[in-house]
Amino acid sequence: MKNADNSRRAFVRFLAGSPLFLAAGIDGKSLHRLITGSTRDQGEAFDLIDQVSQDRQISSPGEALDIFDFEPVAKAKIPPAHWGYLITGTDDDGTIKANRDGYAKWSLRPRRLVDWSHLDTSATLLGHKYDTPIVICPLGSQKAFHSEGELAVARAAKAKNHLQVLSTVATTSIEDVIAARGAPVWWQLYHTSDWNQTRAMIKRAEAAGAPAVVFTVDLIGGSNRETMFREAMNDTRTCTNCHSGGQPRPGVSGRVDDRDNRRKPAFANPAPGAPIPEAGPPTWDYVKRIRDTTSMKVFVKGILTPEDAELAIQHGASGIFVSNHGGRADNSLRATVECLPDIVKQARGRLVIELDGGVRRGTDIFKALALGANAVGIGRPYIWGLGSFGQEGVEAVMMILRKELEIVMKQCGTTSVRGISPAYLASR
Ligand SMILES: Cc1cc2nc3c(=O)[nH]c(=O)nc-3n(C[C@H](O)[C@H](O)[C@H](O)COP(=O)(O)O)c2cc1C
Repeated sequence: MKNADNSRRAFVRFLAGSPLFLAAGIDGKSLHRLITGSTRDQGEAFDLIDQVSQDRQISSPGEALDIFDFEPVAKAKIPPAHWGYLITGTDDDGTIKANRDGYAKWSLRPRRLVDWSHLDTSATLLGHKYDTPIVICPLGSQKAFHSEGELAVARAAKAKNHLQVLSTVATTSIEDVIAARGAPVWWQLYHTSDWNQTRAMIKRAEAAGAPAVVFTVDLIGGSNRETMFREAMNDTRTCTNCHSGGQPRPGVSGRVDDRDNRRKPAFANPAPGAPIPEAGPPTWDYVKRIRDTTSMKVFVKGILTPEDAELAIQHGASGIFVSNHGGRADNSLRATVECLPDIVKQARGRLVIELDGGVRRGTDIFKALALGANAVGIGRPYIWGLGSFGQEGVEAVMMILRKELEIVMKQCGTTSVRGISPAYLASR
């Protein structure tokens, strides 16, 4: 505790004395009061720090040293309410931090003098070979971040040969995204309260050529997105010009049964025939029902325990996403990467396992692969790229992560993704 106090004091002294803050008209005393104050004061302090660091933004993707360099540029270009949608977690956002901290619980065990001259970063998922195991996670409403939205992301995925997973609440149709990607994408499903409609959406994705449906199960009970509501209050635009559901507010989750989502392309064609209302929230039988409905492979997204991994297998899933929705589902305070080893042990090779949540560095990707993930997903970082420079930004983010992964693979003496094993990690 004493150490933490000392480091905090040193940090505040450092910030307070920084010429950048003085130049921005922020005095050291005020900053000190905020940083040592309540959680909300601290939030304000970090906003100030953000503001100052924005003065030193990159002006082209090529200037970025790491993926974090895209974040302030995107923040400056994306409207505040949409920025809030991107950054929010749930409650006080603690699980976002937990996801990041999770990777620090393992250290690397580098091996020397290995010939890595034929480095193979490729990964094969459902028979398709990708250049890397880095997956573009499903993320809703991408035109809220850039006018080309999911199309720019699809073009970047094509250029760098990444797996892209398209959200149910995408602002571009699956047919257009597959055309832009030049290859099938996987399709993520949020169920609706009408099975007839849900089935029609699944069938549409299948007809478009998606080889997998990824059923997201971690938001079914709802989530409390305070940061989103707070950021929306800073937006002076009239939300109802675009959002028929109105201003985001507590109790309106932004999920598929909300009026607002009905304008999304996945809901464009009303399902023919009479509605088939669901009796209640979905349970494991629903996974089997999806499997019996489609020839696509079924993945379940949002799995965090070995018990649920086993149930996924029993109900016919081919794979799972070990994910907590980027800390925006339940505020579990448990990192996805911490959940991974028990799940891998339980699955015994019977599931394709994707991990996402807080992945920001090549070393994070390496650790997740070493702990048994077959693929590793990112969410917010590619949107930082999209929001700042469109397709070029997304490509640059993916490229930086790939380069970082290559370095750690070489430094650890691994020559292929399959060769990355727990032997390269030590628990801290
Ligand atoms: C703004 C935003 C929208 C998202 N939309 C969806 C979605 O529509 N469907 C889904 O399954 N996951 C969605 N996710 C979760 C991501 O697929 C992924 O699990 C998460 O972003 C990974 O964490 P990271 O952002 O820390 O990389 C969303 C995440 C964010 C940040």
